[in-house]
Amino acid sequence: MSVLDGKVVSEKIQLEIGLELARLRNEHGVVPGLAVIMAGDDPASRSYVQSKSKLAEKIGIRSELVKLAASASAGEIAAVIAAKNADPLTHAILVQMPLPKHLDPWAVLDRIAPEKDVDAFHPLNQGLILQNRGVIFPCTPLGVMRILDHYAIDPAGMDVVVVGRSFLVGKPMAAMLANRNATVTLCHSRTVGLAAILREAGLVVAAVGKPGFITAEMVRPGAVLIDVGINHVAREEDFEKFCPRSQYEGFKKKGYAITGDIHYQAFAKAAHYTPVPGGVGPLTVTMLMHNTVELCKRSR
Ligand code: GUN
Repeated sequence: MSVLDGKVVSEKIQLEIGLELARLRNEHGVVPGLAVIMAGDDPASRSYVQSKSKLAEKIGIRSELVKLAASASAGEIAAVIAAKNADPLTHAILVQMPLPKHLDPWAVLDRIAPEKDVDAFHPLNQGLILQNRGVIFPCTPLGVMRILDHYAIDPAGMDVVVVGRSFLVGKPMAAMLANRNATVTLCHSRTVGLAAILREAGLVVAAVGKPGFITAEMVRPGAVLIDVGINHVAREEDFEKFCPRSQYEGFKKKGYAITGDIHYQAFAKAAHYTPVPGGVGPLTVTMLMHNTVELCKRSR
């Protein structure tokens, strides 16, 4: 059982991005620009957005945060997106999800120019991924691919089970793995016989957002386990259910635990696994920076 360390992979990619940023600056006098648009003040979103701004600043990407009220209208968001679409200093636009309930996410996301769509959520970019000619890839699945590549885990020919069918992670992840010649089964909350399907998997990608959802009994010995979940567990009595004993005290001090979708006892059966925290999480923000640089390069 070995750990796939997302921090190591993330640091390596940040070094590569740093070199690319220096080249863009020296040869073309260009600094990639990222606009992050956030409506409302959801605490988890605020923390993600802060980590995006912090990393952008650290590695030398120009980032701007546009904060709108939770009551913002579709028209107000559309006006901000239109301004950023037209701004030559903005190469990449991100609208933080989830949006307040009264807004239709597609009506907002579809307005981002496909050539500035840093999340690859636009139907054009998702369609290109399905056709195996993607130009930009959603950050989390791209981070998973980079972890697999770093540790020389080739998904070609493997039986892969992706759990979760969101357009952020599950669906593009399934397409990207199929494009790399994996045999992919895409499961979700309504899948009948999930445990039996999972027991056949050589590689599992879990993106369901439920702590400890995949248990040790559902995992084939020697499987590769990739845990995309970042779940906030607030009740102290649940720490015991979802977290190894060695972590209780730390979590008790903080008042909450962060845990993945795969139960920690399953990791003992795995050949390789990504921990939470410290697995896929660090890659997601790093891949956002990678995509920002990529869009900047493509704009030239
Ligand atoms: N909310 C949670 N993950 C993401 C992401 O990758 N992109 C955006 N825009 N919002 C998110």
